[in-house]
Amino acid sequence: MIDFALSETNGFEKIRVWLERTCAIHYPPQKRALLEQRLSRAQRKLGMTTLSELAEALQRSDAQDVQLAIMHAASTNHTFFFREKEVLGYFRSEVLPRLADRSEIRLWSAACSTGDEVYTLAIMIAETLGIDTLRRAHILGTDISAPVIEAAESGVFPLRQLQQVPSEIVRRYMHPVGIDQFRVNDEIRAACTFRRLNLKKAPYPFQRPFQAVFCRNVLYYFTPADQIAVVEAIADATEEGGFLFTSVTENVRELSSRWRPLTSGISRKSESVN
Ligand SMILES: C[S@@+](CC[C@H](N)C(=O)[O-])C[C@H]1O[C@@H](n2cnc3c(N)ncnc32)[C@H](O)[C@@H]1O
Repeated sequence: MIDFALSETNGFEKIRVWLERTCAIHYPPQKRALLEQRLSRAQRKLGMTTLSELAEALQRSDAQDVQLAIMHAASTNHTFFFREKEVLGYFRSEVLPRLADRSEIRLWSAACSTGDEVYTLAIMIAETLGIDTLRRAHILGTDISAPVIEAAESGVFPLRQLQQVPSEIVRRYMHPVGIDQFRVNDEIRAACTFRRLNLKKAPYPFQRPFQAVFCRNVLYYFTPADQIAVVEAIADATEEGGFLFTSVTENVRELSSRWRPLTSGISRKSESVN
């Protein structure tokens, strides 16, 4: 019995360390029970009976399905349309007007979960600069978890994720596809692309820089060292003068990086004030 408990503790510890090293996802000691619960769910889904079996499977060279299951199980995917309106208000009034004349609008939602933020940005472009502007807009959504990227690509959302969306916006840009389910219209979806990407794996594989990056409600799952590494790698992928949006509770001000904080949740990659 003691041996079993010990081997389960070792198995848990191996997975916890792997998650932090490979995905930057850090579970502090006080969240141990939560991670145990999440890993047990992944382990059962994979048809395994113990955490040590799961940890062993993770070490194998062909462990991609196990890795994906653990990454998904360990991440918190809560998101919804028009989240944190104060931050989005700045994007609408200060950033979008600067992008109005650009031949290409390039935005990135890093850690986009089911894509609500990506479609929110596309809708904001349509509302602020006109629907035709979407033809020269590229909004990329990335996440470490494969199932959320698949959900994002489908463009179908339950009503509960649309609570913050004014009803006229729902009518204009979405259509019902089932009971309390809506699909984003094709003209919005055409501007949005989704890929799996692990923020821990820098440098990021982009050939052209983004004008604004949204990396919201994910940094606080990382250690301070990983937070700095991630915001620095995002700076490499952002044009000079570009913007970084985090959540208002994620403070880039405390991180030593090239980002100059403007106000809560908003920073700029530039030396000069403007
Ligand atoms: C709480 S959601 C945030 C979604 C959206 N940005 C928002 O603010 O509503 C956090 C997301 O970060 C993703 N994530 C966690 N670690 C990641 C990593 N290393 N690379 C990319 N995505 C990651 C999770 O899979 C999850 O979907």
